Amino acid sequence: MGYIEKNIKDIREDFPILSRPGFIYLDSAATSQKPFVVLEKMDWVYKNLNANVHRGIYKIAEDITEEYERSRKEISGFINASESEIVFTRNTTESINLAAYMLLQKLKRGDRIVTTLLEHHSNFLPWKKIAKIAGLNLELVKVTSEALIDEEDFEKKIENAKVVAFTHVSNVAGTIVDVKRLARKAKERGAFVLIDGAQATPHMKVDVSNLAVDFYVFSGHKMLGPTGIGVLYGKKDLLEELEPPFTGGEMVKEVHKDGQSWNDVPWKFEPGTPNYVGSIGLAEAVRYIKKIGIDQIETYEKKLSEYLLENVGNIKGLRYAGPKNNRAALLAFEIKGVHPHDVAAYLDMKGIAVRSGWHCAQPLQEELGFSNGTTRASLYFYNTFSEIDKLRTALEELVNIV
Ligand code: ALA
Repeated sequence: MGYIEKNIKDIREDFPILSRPGFIYLDSAATSQKPFVVLEKMDWVYKNLNANVHRGIYKIAEDITEEYERSRKEISGFINASESEIVFTRNTTESINLAAYMLLQKLKRGDRIVTTLLEHHSNFLPWKKIAKIAGLNLELVKVTSEALIDEEDFEKKIENAKVVAFTHVSNVAGTIVDVKRLARKAKERGAFVLIDGAQATPHMKVDVSNLAVDFYVFSGHKMLGPTGIGVLYGKKDLLEELEPPFTGGEMVKEVHKDGQSWNDVPWKFEPGTPNYVGSIGLAEAVRYIKKIGIDQIETYEKKLSEYLLENVGNIKGLRYAGPKNNRAALLAFEIKGVHPHDVAAYLDMKGIAVRSGWHCAQPLQEELGFSNGTTRASLYFYNTFSEIDKLRTALEELVNIV
């Protein structure tokens, strides 16, 4: 028995919301719950240390700035990057948009951007938008019926591509993409490579120094941190070379009527007052994850994922998206004859919170033949095998009614 199984009761007690009677939270792919330590840290900051960062020279202004930059150090260490490579944003979506607008400087009419059908809308629409602005061609790599990236098509499409962007883990199909291998292939063709790590960093060890990527992006709120804080990791040389697409306060060293000099990286990409309390909260979340152990989380969730598939994946009349193995601890499915929202509403009556609909990945679901979308149960390390049993029981009851 691993650390999490042994300590699951105590771990669950770290999360205030999990003590709601009869409540089963299976929507962590949408957002994770928050432990006391994160909530208390942010509360403490607002009560004791609140001042704007990188501005005032009084005591608490300097202390909060130090705490803010310490949070960058903690978060950079978590993915094995250097502090100057961590740009704080609002979330994954904003990180991808920012990267897209940064790369616009490097692209010219007719250049090709490649993403895949596996993507969340966030890793599709920003590329579509810059393609329209600059006359670029956007191509989507196909997926197989099990929602794996079609590698033959990938090889073909990345040839001469200028940007290749794809997800690490699918939020619908649970597919875990071999980003190390595929990013290398794209890099060898000379493309800028961006990986959407929103569904990966909360659940598995990510080491950007070991990946042939220019950008790796993720959100704080899916990994026990607060909402409104995200990360754009970018390779230092590239960040130094690129112009900031957005300008304003604090991202400059000097401003004169007829010129200005940008701040150093990463600050030149962080105009305006940043969400410093969010960053500090996210750093606390990272410390909590490190205390549990990201390897422990990965191992435990692998068991949850297998149990979920074995016990829910085979319910009569249920069809799920994604591969049969090596998948994240989530299951998006349809039940014959019942709309996904009705499935979710039924589960809600049983106290089970799941998401239903398109999950911001409509092209993927349409491709896989889920014409009304799906209902999705998505787990984190604070979930239990017995919660999966309860999900199964509720779904079986539903199947027997229809
Ligand atoms: N991207 C999040 C999800 O999959 C919101 O639910």
